[in-house]
Amino acid sequence: MTTATEPLRVTLLVGSNRHGRFGPVVADWLLDRLRDHEDLLPEVVDVAGTELPTTFEPTEEAKAALAEITPKLAGADAFVVLTPEYNHSFPAGLKNLIDWHFTEWRAKPVALVSYGGLAGGLRATEHLRQVFAELHAVTVRDTVSFHNAGASFDDEGRLRDPSGPDAAAKTMLDQLVWWGRALREAKEKRPYDGA
Ligand SMILES: Cc1cc2nc3c(=O)[nH]c(=O)nc-3n(C[C@H](O)[C@H](O)[C@H](O)COP(=O)(O)O)c2cc1C
Repeated sequence: MTTATEPLRVTLLVGSNRHGRFGPVVADWLLDRLRDHEDLLPEVVDVAGTELPTTFEPTEEAKAALAEITPKLAGADAFVVLTPEYNHSFPAGLKNLIDWHFTEWRAKPVALVSYGGLAGGLRATEHLRQVFAELHAVTVRDTVSFHNAGASFDDEGRLRDPSGPDAAAKTMLDQLVWWGRALREAKEKRPYDGA
């Protein structure tokens, strides 16, 4: 049986857990773009509030957090990762959540959305490409980035000028869908073995 026409399950990973973070404003806009795309069925995993120790000790808190997170990663056909830029890279909490998992990322496409200061988080994005390559995931070419993100949104969290970001998101998500469908069909024929 083919799943060629079924929508792709996409998990949006919200990468900031900073106290007082701006991330949810960008995440809400992005989630709307995912919901608008007829080929995507979105879920959200938010690094904030997840108690995953950096020691990888399977504490009761870690097990409870993983019971929430892991099924949303394992069941995804594709990912969108939203990251701010901290000191020219992505946040430690995001890396920790990525590192707690392995097979969940394999042979799946990842789209990257970033925000930050002048560089729009692009250095964080390029670092994430290296990380996901190690995990046998495929990052799509086009990204969305917001420089001086706070100034791009109004007090209600709406983009002051949505035309550019909306168009960039459409391009990126269309690429994600292409890769997601291609990899899902390929894995139905031949499971990915990492060779
Ligand atoms: C620890 C830290 C380091 C930062 N480093 C950078 C940076 O290297 N480049 C940049 O453009 N912005 C940098 N910023 C600005 C953040 O990208 C910006 O404040 C963003 O809104 C943070 O996302 P958040 O509010 O969701 O945590 C930094 C912010 C913090 C807290």
